[in-house]
Amino acid sequence: MPSFVANVNQQTDVLPKGVKALMDNGLVTIPGRYIKPPSHRAVKHLIVPGVEIPVIDMAALESDREKFVQTLCKASSEWGIFQVINHGIPVATMQGMVHGVLELFDLPIEEKMKYYTEEVFVPVRYCTSMTPSQETHMEWHDHFQHYFSNREKEHPWPEYCRRLASSYVSSVRHLSQTLMSALSEGLGLDSNCLAKSFGDSEMILRSNYYLPCPNPDLALGMNGHTDSGGLTILFEDQVGGLQARKGDLWYDLKPIKNAFIVNIADQLEILSNGKYKSIEHRVLVQPDQTRLSIVAFCNPSRDAVIGPLLELIDEQNPLLYKSTLYQEHITNVYTKYLDGKHSQKLQIN
Ligand code: OGA
Ligand code: NI
Repeated sequence: MPSFVANVNQQTDVLPKGVKALMDNGLVTIPGRYIKPPSHRAVKHLIVPGVEIPVIDMAALESDREKFVQTLCKASSEWGIFQVINHGIPVATMQGMVHGVLELFDLPIEEKMKYYTEEVFVPVRYCTSMTPSQETHMEWHDHFQHYFSNREKEHPWPEYCRRLASSYVSSVRHLSQTLMSALSEGLGLDSNCLAKSFGDSEMILRSNYYLPCPNPDLALGMNGHTDSGGLTILFEDQVGGLQARKGDLWYDLKPIKNAFIVNIADQLEILSNGKYKSIEHRVLVQPDQTRLSIVAFCNPSRDAVIGPLLELIDEQNPLLYKSTLYQEHITNVYTKYLDGKHSQKLQIN
């Protein structure tokens, strides 16, 4: 189980320094560790191109709440992923975040390596792939991860971006609370029901940086996975590459400019006893374009024990999932499950 403090004694010379460091050193072919075995590569005939997932218009919340709840509930049950427009977060804030995050990835490698860790619960984490020491083949991306629950003081943002990052996270938190209230109502419950189960919720910002890949067909930017927490609110540029899985098919998502992509994560699937779907998703890489995503994870408190809401269980609707301490679920995701649909691991057979 990972500890809660950064490992200060790591021997940085033997750690992977990330994709950017490799490319800055003039790499022309993909190193073996980033090559996926054929069984893990994207298969072209199983990809459905240019898909428009459901669009949720936040402006509709004011005019007809009931209809909004129905639309959101349908998108969360049938897809588990949707785009959100008219969310009220200024474009300037989003663009400011993009600049700030790009500056972080542009820091000299020695600076970034000060934050290199595989540990999960640290205020700031710089890493490549997911858990390199546990993986036989890695993901073609680098990332920074920041915890925001009173831990922002330790974040290495450029000065102009500090306040911006906090205000971005507050806005996204507010959006997630609005969506969670509507999702609670969609289950026929009080609007604060899901939030109550989360306890003191935690916000984590993960910025993923996908550099052009010299052999994109041999690699994946991110393996297929579900997110372990509650609700994920993702902002991406227009490059594309994010795909969502339904059955055996992978749907290539077409980004809408300045919209958020929101997906249901494991804990909301479990609380709703399977009504809302934690969608599996992955990222393909491009031969010639860099892609950036800024992903806010709106998660339960680490010490929350999450299981299906008992109000939803009766003879016709039997309990489908085991209850688990949220911290234990995350730890398993990073050390044991690694990829795939994590909520399945908690299903009662
Ligand atoms: C993630 C994720 C997708 C993306 O960070 O969990 O799924 O587009 N990211 O970067
Ligand atoms: Ni994800």
